[in-house]
Amino acid sequence: MTDTSADLVVLGGGSGGYACAFRAAELGLSVVLIEKDKLGGTCLHRGCIPTKALLHAAEVADSARDADQFGVKTAFEGIDIHGVNKYKENIIAGLYKGLQGLAKAHKVTLVEGAGTLVDANTVEVNGTRYTGKNVVLATGSYSKTIPGLELGGRIIASEQALNLDFVPEKVVVLGGGVIGVEFASVWRSFGAEVTIVEALPHLVPNEDEFISKRLERSFRRRGIKFKTGVKFTGAEQTDSGVTVSLENGEQLEADIMLVAVGRGPNTAGHGFEEAGVQLERGFVRTDERLRTNLPGVYAVGDIVPGLQLAHRGFQQGIFIAEDIAGLNPQPIDEAGIPRVTYSHPEVASVGLTEAAAKEQYGSVETFTYDLAGNGKSQILKTSGAVKLVRVTDGPVVGLHLIGDRVGELIGEAQLIYNWEALPEDVAPLVHAHPTQTEALGEAHLALAGKPLHVHG
Ligand code: NAI
Repeated sequence: MTDTSADLVVLGGGSGGYACAFRAAELGLSVVLIEKDKLGGTCLHRGCIPTKALLHAAEVADSARDADQFGVKTAFEGIDIHGVNKYKENIIAGLYKGLQGLAKAHKVTLVEGAGTLVDANTVEVNGTRYTGKNVVLATGSYSKTIPGLELGGRIIASEQALNLDFVPEKVVVLGGGVIGVEFASVWRSFGAEVTIVEALPHLVPNEDEFISKRLERSFRRRGIKFKTGVKFTGAEQTDSGVTVSLENGEQLEADIMLVAVGRGPNTAGHGFEEAGVQLERGFVRTDERLRTNLPGVYAVGDIVPGLQLAHRGFQQGIFIAEDIAGLNPQPIDEAGIPRVTYSHPEVASVGLTEAAAKEQYGSVETFTYDLAGNGKSQILKTSGAVKLVRVTDGPVVGLHLIGDRVGELIGEAQLIYNWEALPEDVAPLVHAHPTQTEALGEAHLALAGKPLHVHG
């Protein structure tokens, strides 16, 4: 058995793991980064990046189909799924190459293989022990299913959905959360008949209820069917299709069923519990500084309870590296992490929903600005809205947006939330005309008591 020692050993090379490794290397620490598959993890290879490529192809399809509303003549001939997949794979390949270059430039020692945590300072990979003054657990997550429902064949998770070599004609999507609505949106744009089954009363149930209702309205207009507040009881597949049964006796026929009921923490089988790491419902328990109960061992990303988002992983990774290096960084405010769902229309939010803000602060005020009053949105022919929630006489604590392209507005929205701005602070800031950012400006003007393009 050989031994290799470093300041930091990171187990898992996804968004959280590699961000931590790179930042630690920048701070002068020696770093070993262990990855059994490909650097970049779920986000790059089977998550954020490929889905957003599919969603962009979907947008292009919609533009081609609907071009005559802008006076442009096109003929939509259909989806060449091999062409779509090639476009998607090329993006991944380019980013993957870039990431490998970054690892090299940072002089991070990449170790290929599955690591097992042996103790608070040691990870073993294929018989070699890597010891670190600190260890970071960054093993990510997997697509969950529900008890009794086995994935396979026509019953697929997002990983398989990303790599289909055909466009299904009829799909049932189980789960109306982020993954569910993004794939529903893609397949509808590609021409499929789509039905979403969601157990809770609304689609994207974690969002402000106003946004959920607006998304439901848009999906209805697009012909995306959904059944909310209904329990799934089972699915049977044959050579030709899958029959999905609901508790109310209804049966849905489809070519495939996508299971999108959440992602579970990948914490089993890597020696965590055996080495004494405390888990809670499978997630790694940490304090607000992302420290586990084992001295010197941290956890990052999807295995830490909270939002399972790549950019949260990046920031947590940076935080841990800086904490280890003694820079004493500020703990991350989970509510300040921006959330974007890239469906058509897009949903973006940061901070608290109206209901959560009321619970936390008691008295709140809200203002909703409809994109019907926003020139750029009219040019794009998108409907939607910006909803703000402020504490009465206090800062803006929730920003909720819906409409095509609003995901790009979250940059400003997250600054407003994280800087604890008052609407009166934002009101005098000039927003370029005509842009969709004006909708944010107008909403703050109105909340500060000086509405411009708003009917009384
Ligand atoms: P999710 O937690 O967002 O949604 C799962 C949905 O399934 C929930 O609405 C839940 O009520 C529903 N559900 C659970 N059991 C059900 C049942 N038996 N029958 C019907 N509905 C049921 O999880 P999702 O969409 O799978 O995404 C996983 C993670 O990946 C999330 O944390 C998400 O934030 C992240 N992600 C983020 C993206 C983004 O930022 N754009 C894109 C895709 C995923």
